Amino acid sequence: MKIDGKPYRTIWLGKDGTTVEVIDQTRLPFELVVKPLKSLEDVAVCIEDMTVRGAPLIGATAAYGMALGMAGDTSDKGLATAYERLMRTRPTAVNLRWALDEMRGFLAPLAPGERRAAAYKRAAEICDEDVEINAAIGRNGLAIIEAIAAKKPAGSTINILTHCNAGWLATVDWGTATAPIYMAHDKGMKIHVWVDETRPRNQGASLTAFELGHHGVPHTVIPDNTGGHVMQHGMVDMVIVGTDRTTRTGDVANKIGTYLKALAAKDNGVPFYVALPSPTIDFKLEDGVRDIPIEQRSPEEVTHMTGRLASGAIATVEIVASGSPVANYGFDVTPARLVTGLITEKGVAAANEASIAKLFPERSGS
Ligand code: MRU
Repeated sequence: MKIDGKPYRTIWLGKDGTTVEVIDQTRLPFELVVKPLKSLEDVAVCIEDMTVRGAPLIGATAAYGMALGMAGDTSDKGLATAYERLMRTRPTAVNLRWALDEMRGFLAPLAPGERRAAAYKRAAEICDEDVEINAAIGRNGLAIIEAIAAKKPAGSTINILTHCNAGWLATVDWGTATAPIYMAHDKGMKIHVWVDETRPRNQGASLTAFELGHHGVPHTVIPDNTGGHVMQHGMVDMVIVGTDRTTRTGDVANKIGTYLKALAAKDNGVPFYVALPSPTIDFKLEDGVRDIPIEQRSPEEVTHMTGRLASGAIATVEIVASGSPVANYGFDVTPARLVTGLITEKGVAAANEASIAKLFPERSGS
Protein backbone atom coordinates (compact mmCIF):
# COMPACT_ATOMS: atom_id res chain seq x y z
CA MET A 1 0.00 0.00 0.00
CA LYS A 2 1.07 3.61 -0.23
CA ILE A 3 2.61 6.14 2.15
CA ASP A 4 2.55 9.65 0.71
CA GLY A 5 1.84 8.18 -2.70
CA LYS A 6 4.83 5.81 -2.65
CA PRO A 7 4.11 2.05 -2.67
CA TYR A 8 5.63 0.12 0.21
CA ARG A 9 5.75 -3.37 1.59
CA THR A 10 6.61 -3.84 5.26
CA ILE A 11 9.69 -5.97 4.54
CA TRP A 12 12.08 -6.22 1.60
CA LEU A 13 15.66 -7.12 0.72
CA GLY A 14 18.21 -4.28 0.73
CA LYS A 15 20.36 -3.31 -2.25
CA ASP A 16 23.25 -5.53 -1.10
CA GLY A 17 20.99 -8.57 -1.54
CA THR A 18 21.51 -9.84 2.01
CA THR A 19 20.39 -7.14 4.46
CA VAL A 20 16.68 -7.31 5.27
CA GLU A 21 14.90 -3.97 5.63
CA VAL A 22 11.69 -3.34 7.57
CA ILE A 23 9.50 -0.40 8.50
CA ASP A 24 10.16 0.32 12.20
CA GLN A 25 6.62 0.24 13.61
CA THR A 26 7.69 1.53 17.02
CA ARG A 27 8.34 4.91 15.38
CA LEU A 28 4.96 5.24 13.66
CA PRO A 29 2.84 7.31 13.29
CA PHE A 30 5.34 10.09 13.91
CA GLU A 31 8.34 8.99 11.82
CA LEU A 32 8.80 6.64 8.87
CA VAL A 33 12.07 4.89 9.68
CA VAL A 34 13.49 1.92 7.79
CA LYS A 35 15.52 -0.46 9.94
CA PRO A 36 18.22 -2.71 8.47
CA LEU A 37 18.49 -6.26 9.86
CA LYS A 38 21.86 -7.89 9.31
CA SER A 39 21.90 -10.91 11.57
CA LEU A 40 19.75 -13.61 13.15
CA GLU A 41 19.90 -11.71 16.44
CA ASP A 42 18.77 -8.45 14.77
CA VAL A 43 15.69 -10.28 13.50
CA ALA A 44 14.93 -11.96 16.83
CA VAL A 45 15.17 -8.67 18.73
CA CYS A 46 13.06 -6.80 16.18
CA ILE A 47 10.25 -9.34 16.64
CA GLU A 48 10.60 -9.23 20.43
CA ASP A 49 10.62 -5.44 20.70
CA MET A 50 7.79 -5.12 18.14
CA THR A 51 9.76 -3.21 15.53
CA VAL A 52 7.71 -5.60 13.39
CA ARG A 53 4.50 -7.13 14.71
CA GLY A 54 1.26 -8.69 13.51
CA ALA A 55 1.05 -12.44 13.01
CA PRO A 56 1.68 -12.70 9.24
CA LEU A 57 4.57 -10.21 9.30
CA ILE A 58 6.15 -11.97 12.27
CA GLY A 59 6.13 -15.17 10.16
CA ALA A 60 7.60 -13.45 7.09
CA THR A 61 10.31 -11.73 9.14
CA ALA A 62 11.22 -14.98 10.89
CA ALA A 63 11.60 -16.63 7.48
CA TYR A 64 14.22 -14.02 6.59
CA GLY A 65 15.72 -14.54 10.06
CA MET A 66 16.41 -18.14 9.06
CA ALA A 67 18.12 -16.84 5.90
CA LEU A 68 20.30 -14.49 7.95
CA GLY A 69 21.03 -17.35 10.34
CA MET A 70 22.26 -19.39 7.36
CA ALA A 71 24.70 -16.58 6.50
CA GLY A 72 26.51 -17.33 9.77
CA ASP A 73 26.32 -21.12 9.96
CA THR A 74 24.76 -23.38 7.34
CA SER A 75 25.29 -26.63 9.27
CA ASP A 76 22.45 -28.68 10.82
CA LYS A 77 23.47 -27.13 14.14
CA GLY A 78 23.19 -23.62 12.64
CA LEU A 79 19.75 -24.46 11.30
CA ALA A 80 18.60 -25.69 14.71
CA THR A 81 20.06 -22.65 16.49
CA ALA A 82 18.30 -20.21 14.17
CA TYR A 83 15.00 -22.11 14.47
CA GLU A 84 15.11 -22.22 18.27
CA ARG A 85 16.18 -18.60 18.76
CA LEU A 86 13.38 -17.30 16.53
CA MET A 87 10.76 -19.65 17.98
CA ARG A 88 11.33 -18.09 21.42
CA THR A 89 10.54 -14.54 20.27
CA ARG A 90 6.74 -14.34 20.65
CA PRO A 91 4.40 -17.09 21.83
CA THR A 92 0.88 -16.38 20.53
CA ALA A 93 1.12 -15.83 16.76
CA VAL A 94 1.23 -19.30 15.22
CA ASN A 95 2.43 -17.92 11.87
CA LEU A 96 5.86 -17.81 13.50
CA ARG A 97 5.91 -21.59 13.97
CA TRP A 98 4.36 -22.12 10.55
CA ALA A 99 7.07 -20.06 8.79
CA LEU A 100 9.91 -21.61 10.79
CA ASP A 101 8.64 -25.17 10.12
CA GLU A 102 8.29 -24.29 6.45
CA MET A 103 11.87 -22.95 6.27
CA ARG A 104 13.39 -25.82 8.25
CA GLY A 105 11.49 -28.43 6.21
CA PHE A 106 12.73 -26.81 3.00
CA LEU A 107 16.37 -26.33 4.07
CA ALA A 108 17.11 -29.48 6.06
CA PRO A 109 17.30 -31.89 3.07
CA LEU A 110 19.71 -29.56 1.19
CA ALA A 111 23.49 -29.72 1.35
CA PRO A 112 24.81 -27.06 3.78
CA GLY A 113 26.48 -25.18 0.90
CA GLU A 114 23.15 -24.72 -0.85
CA ARG A 115 21.16 -23.57 2.15
CA ARG A 116 21.94 -19.87 2.28
CA ALA A 117 20.76 -18.98 -1.24
CA ALA A 118 17.80 -21.34 -0.91
CA ALA A 119 16.75 -19.70 2.37
CA TYR A 120 16.66 -16.21 0.85
CA LYS A 121 14.66 -17.54 -2.09
CA ARG A 122 12.08 -19.35 0.08
CA ALA A 123 11.74 -16.35 2.42
CA ALA A 124 11.01 -14.09 -0.57
CA GLU A 125 8.41 -16.59 -1.78
CA ILE A 126 6.74 -16.64 1.65
CA CYS A 127 6.47 -12.84 1.46
CA ASP A 128 4.97 -12.95 -2.05
CA GLU A 129 2.56 -15.70 -0.99
CA ASP A 130 1.40 -13.55 1.94
CA VAL A 131 0.57 -10.72 -0.45
CA GLU A 132 -1.41 -13.08 -2.72
CA ILE A 133 -3.25 -14.64 0.22
CA ASN A 134 -4.27 -11.24 1.59
CA ALA A 135 -5.48 -10.08 -1.81
CA ALA A 136 -7.69 -13.20 -1.97
CA ILE A 137 -8.98 -12.49 1.57
CA GLY A 138 -9.78 -9.00 0.31
CA ARG A 139 -11.85 -10.31 -2.59
CA ASN A 140 -13.74 -12.77 -0.36
CA GLY A 141 -14.41 -10.11 2.28
CA LEU A 142 -15.48 -7.58 -0.34
CA ALA A 143 -18.35 -9.89 -1.33
CA ILE A 144 -19.58 -9.78 2.30
CA ILE A 145 -19.38 -5.99 2.44
CA GLU A 146 -21.30 -5.80 -0.85
CA ALA A 147 -24.00 -8.11 0.52
CA ILE A 148 -24.38 -5.90 3.61
CA ALA A 149 -24.49 -2.78 1.41
CA ALA A 150 -27.21 -4.33 -0.74
CA LYS A 151 -29.50 -4.47 2.30
CA LYS A 152 -29.08 -0.75 3.09
CA PRO A 153 -30.58 2.21 1.22
CA ALA A 154 -28.57 2.99 -1.92
CA GLY A 155 -25.62 5.29 -1.28
CA SER A 156 -25.47 4.53 2.49
CA THR A 157 -22.12 4.42 4.22
CA ILE A 158 -21.00 1.00 5.48
CA ASN A 159 -19.56 1.32 9.00
CA ILE A 160 -16.94 -1.27 9.92
CA LEU A 161 -15.35 -1.60 13.34
CA THR A 162 -11.86 -3.04 13.69
CA HIS A 163 -9.54 -3.73 16.62
CA CYS A 164 -5.74 -3.44 16.83
CA ASN A 165 -3.85 -3.40 13.55
CA ALA A 166 -4.65 -6.20 11.16
CA GLY A 167 -3.76 -3.84 8.35
CA TRP A 168 -0.99 -3.95 5.78
CA LEU A 169 1.53 -3.09 8.48
CA ALA A 170 0.69 -6.41 10.21
CA THR A 171 1.34 -8.35 7.00
CA VAL A 172 3.63 -7.97 3.99
CA ASP A 173 0.93 -5.99 2.15
CA TRP A 174 -2.87 -5.42 2.04
CA GLY A 175 -3.52 -6.58 5.61
CA THR A 176 -6.03 -9.23 6.60
CA ALA A 177 -8.98 -7.33 8.14
CA THR A 178 -8.21 -4.25 6.04
CA ALA A 179 -7.89 -5.98 2.65
CA PRO A 180 -11.69 -6.08 2.10
CA ILE A 181 -11.91 -2.49 3.36
CA TYR A 182 -9.27 -1.21 0.91
CA MET A 183 -10.91 -3.10 -1.95
CA ALA A 184 -14.37 -1.76 -1.14
CA HIS A 185 -13.01 1.79 -0.81
CA ASP A 186 -11.00 1.51 -4.04
CA LYS A 187 -14.15 0.33 -5.81
CA GLY A 188 -15.91 3.53 -4.84
CA MET A 189 -18.09 2.18 -2.01
CA LYS A 190 -18.75 4.53 0.89
CA ILE A 191 -16.83 3.00 3.79
CA HIS A 192 -16.18 4.38 7.25
CA VAL A 193 -14.01 2.55 9.80
CA TRP A 194 -14.30 2.76 13.58
CA VAL A 195 -10.71 2.26 14.76
CA ASP A 196 -10.30 0.97 18.33
CA GLU A 197 -7.28 2.71 19.84
CA THR A 198 -6.17 -0.68 21.30
CA ARG A 199 -4.50 -0.13 24.62
CA PRO A 200 -1.89 -0.65 25.85
CA ARG A 201 0.31 -0.24 22.74
CA ASN A 202 -2.27 1.67 20.71
CA GLN A 203 -1.79 -0.22 17.45
CA GLY A 204 -5.20 1.03 16.30
CA ALA A 205 -4.54 4.70 17.01
CA SER A 206 -0.94 4.70 15.78
CA LEU A 207 -0.91 2.12 12.95
CA THR A 208 -4.43 1.44 11.62
CA ALA A 209 -5.33 5.14 11.66
CA PHE A 210 -1.98 5.92 9.97
CA GLU A 211 -2.48 3.50 7.13
CA LEU A 212 -6.18 4.22 6.55
CA GLY A 213 -5.39 7.94 6.55
CA HIS A 214 -2.61 7.52 4.00
CA HIS A 215 -4.93 5.51 1.77
CA GLY A 216 -7.75 8.04 2.13
CA VAL A 217 -10.23 5.73 3.87
CA PRO A 218 -12.64 7.71 6.12
CA HIS A 219 -12.19 6.58 9.71
CA THR A 220 -12.66 7.64 13.33
CA VAL A 221 -10.47 6.55 16.25
CA ILE A 222 -12.42 5.57 19.35
CA PRO A 223 -11.28 4.65 22.86
CA ASP A 224 -11.48 0.89 23.36
CA ASN A 225 -14.52 1.19 25.61
CA THR A 226 -16.68 2.86 22.94
CA GLY A 227 -17.42 -0.16 20.73
CA GLY A 228 -20.48 -1.32 22.71
CA HIS A 229 -22.04 2.13 22.60
CA VAL A 230 -21.69 2.62 18.84
CA MET A 231 -23.02 -0.90 18.20
CA GLN A 232 -26.04 -0.25 20.45
CA HIS A 233 -26.89 2.86 18.45
CA GLY A 234 -26.87 1.18 15.04
CA MET A 235 -23.60 2.83 14.03
CA VAL A 236 -21.76 -0.39 13.14
CA ASP A 237 -22.74 -2.66 10.19
CA MET A 238 -20.05 -5.25 10.76
CA VAL A 239 -16.90 -5.97 12.73
CA ILE A 240 -13.79 -7.34 10.98
CA VAL A 241 -10.74 -8.25 13.07
CA GLY A 242 -7.57 -10.21 12.45
CA THR A 243 -6.22 -13.10 14.47
CA ASP A 244 -2.90 -14.36 15.75
CA ARG A 245 -4.00 -17.98 16.10
CA THR A 246 -7.30 -19.72 15.35
CA THR A 247 -7.98 -23.30 16.38
CA ARG A 248 -9.31 -25.95 14.01
CA THR A 249 -12.66 -25.49 15.77
CA GLY A 250 -12.81 -21.73 15.09
CA ASP A 251 -11.80 -20.23 18.45
CA VAL A 252 -9.97 -16.98 17.70
CA ALA A 253 -7.01 -15.52 19.61
CA ASN A 254 -6.55 -11.85 18.84
CA LYS A 255 -5.35 -8.66 20.51
CA ILE A 256 -6.66 -8.20 24.04
CA GLY A 257 -10.14 -6.66 23.99
CA THR A 258 -11.38 -8.52 20.91
CA TYR A 259 -13.54 -10.86 23.03
CA LEU A 260 -15.43 -7.91 24.55
CA LYS A 261 -16.16 -6.57 21.05
CA ALA A 262 -17.48 -9.98 20.00
CA LEU A 263 -19.79 -10.07 23.04
CA ALA A 264 -21.11 -6.60 22.24
CA ALA A 265 -21.57 -7.55 18.58
CA LYS A 266 -23.56 -10.66 19.54
CA ASP A 267 -25.78 -8.67 21.89
CA ASN A 268 -26.53 -6.14 19.17
CA GLY A 269 -26.92 -8.46 16.18
CA VAL A 270 -23.81 -7.05 14.47
CA PRO A 271 -21.98 -9.60 12.26
CA PHE A 272 -18.51 -10.36 13.65
CA TYR A 273 -16.01 -11.55 11.03
CA VAL A 274 -12.40 -12.66 11.42
CA ALA A 275 -10.05 -12.32 8.43
CA LEU A 276 -7.18 -14.79 8.38
CA PRO A 277 -4.62 -16.44 6.14
CA SER A 278 -4.53 -20.23 6.46
CA PRO A 279 -1.08 -20.24 8.18
CA THR A 280 -2.89 -18.63 11.16
CA ILE A 281 -4.99 -21.76 11.69
CA ASP A 282 -3.48 -24.10 14.26
CA PHE A 283 -4.89 -27.49 13.28
CA LYS A 284 -3.26 -29.06 16.35
CA LEU A 285 -5.53 -27.16 18.75
CA GLU A 286 -9.15 -27.81 19.65
CA ASP A 287 -9.96 -25.50 22.57
CA GLY A 288 -8.62 -21.97 22.21
CA VAL A 289 -9.26 -20.76 25.77
CA ARG A 290 -7.50 -23.79 27.22
CA ASP A 291 -4.72 -24.31 24.68
CA ILE A 292 -3.58 -21.04 23.07
CA PRO A 293 -0.59 -19.55 24.91
CA ILE A 294 -1.30 -15.93 25.82
CA GLU A 295 1.69 -13.63 25.81
CA GLN A 296 2.18 -11.46 28.88
CA ARG A 297 4.10 -8.32 28.10
CA SER A 298 6.00 -5.84 30.23
CA PRO A 299 4.08 -3.73 32.81
CA GLU A 300 5.70 -0.59 31.35
CA GLU A 301 3.41 -0.87 28.33
CA VAL A 302 0.51 -0.15 30.71
CA THR A 303 2.16 2.22 33.16
CA HIS A 304 3.68 4.44 30.48
CA MET A 305 2.57 6.00 27.22
CA THR A 306 4.59 7.44 24.37
CA GLY A 307 3.45 10.36 22.23
CA ARG A 308 4.44 13.62 20.59
CA LEU A 309 4.67 16.81 22.64
CA ALA A 310 3.55 20.21 21.33
CA SER A 311 7.26 20.91 20.75
CA GLY A 312 7.38 18.01 18.29
CA ALA A 313 9.61 15.92 20.57
CA ILE A 314 8.62 12.29 21.20
CA ALA A 315 8.30 11.57 24.91
CA THR A 316 7.26 8.73 27.19
CA VAL A 317 5.28 9.61 30.31
CA GLU A 318 4.02 7.67 33.33
CA ILE A 319 0.21 7.39 33.60
CA VAL A 320 -0.43 4.91 36.45
CA ALA A 321 -0.23 5.54 40.20
CA SER A 322 3.32 4.74 41.17
CA GLY A 323 3.75 1.28 42.67
CA SER A 324 0.38 -0.16 41.59
CA PRO A 325 0.73 -3.68 40.21
CA VAL A 326 -0.22 -4.17 36.57
CA ALA A 327 -1.34 -7.11 34.42
CA ASN A 328 -0.62 -6.98 30.70
CA TYR A 329 -2.16 -9.90 28.80
CA GLY A 330 -1.43 -9.36 25.12
CA PHE A 331 -4.29 -11.41 23.66
CA ASP A 332 -7.64 -12.97 24.47
CA VAL A 333 -9.68 -15.75 22.91
CA THR A 334 -13.08 -15.24 21.30
CA PRO A 335 -15.03 -18.52 21.33
CA ALA A 336 -16.22 -19.77 17.93
CA ARG A 337 -19.89 -19.34 18.94
CA LEU A 338 -19.44 -15.55 18.79
CA VAL A 339 -17.86 -15.54 15.32
CA THR A 340 -20.12 -15.05 12.28
CA GLY A 341 -17.53 -16.25 9.76
CA LEU A 342 -13.84 -16.71 8.99
CA ILE A 343 -12.73 -14.89 5.83
CA THR A 344 -9.83 -16.88 4.36
CA GLU A 345 -8.00 -16.91 1.04
CA LYS A 346 -10.03 -19.94 -0.01
CA GLY A 347 -13.46 -18.56 0.90
CA VAL A 348 -15.56 -17.88 3.97
CA ALA A 349 -15.88 -20.67 6.54
CA ALA A 350 -18.28 -20.92 9.44
CA ALA A 351 -16.34 -20.97 12.71
CA ASN A 352 -16.54 -24.72 13.26
CA GLU A 353 -14.36 -27.76 12.64
CA ALA A 354 -16.31 -29.21 9.70
CA SER A 355 -16.46 -25.97 7.76
CA ILE A 356 -12.76 -25.18 8.30
CA ALA A 357 -11.71 -28.74 7.36
CA LYS A 358 -13.81 -28.53 4.18
CA LEU A 359 -11.89 -25.44 3.03
CA PHE A 360 -8.46 -26.84 3.97
CA PRO A 361 -8.65 -30.64 3.62
CA GLU A 362 -4.89 -30.80 2.93
CA ARG A 363 -4.04 -29.24 6.32
CA SER A 364 -6.69 -30.71 8.61
CA GLY A 365 -5.05 -33.44 10.65
CA SER A 366 -1.67 -31.60 10.45
O1 MRU B 1 0.88 -7.68 19.50
P1 MRU B 1 0.71 -7.47 18.03
O2 MRU B 1 0.65 -6.05 17.60
O3 MRU B 1 1.67 -8.30 17.21
O4 MRU B 1 -0.72 -8.08 17.80
C1 MRU B 1 -1.10 -8.62 16.65
C2 MRU B 1 -2.15 -7.87 16.05
O5 MRU B 1 -1.93 -6.82 15.50
C3 MRU B 1 -3.45 -8.40 16.06
O6 MRU B 1 -3.93 -9.04 17.09
C4 MRU B 1 -4.03 -8.58 14.73
O7 MRU B 1 -5.34 -8.29 14.78
C5 MRU B 1 -3.75 -9.94 14.13
S1 MRU B 1 -2.40 -9.94 13.04
C6 MRU B 1 -3.10 -9.70 11.46
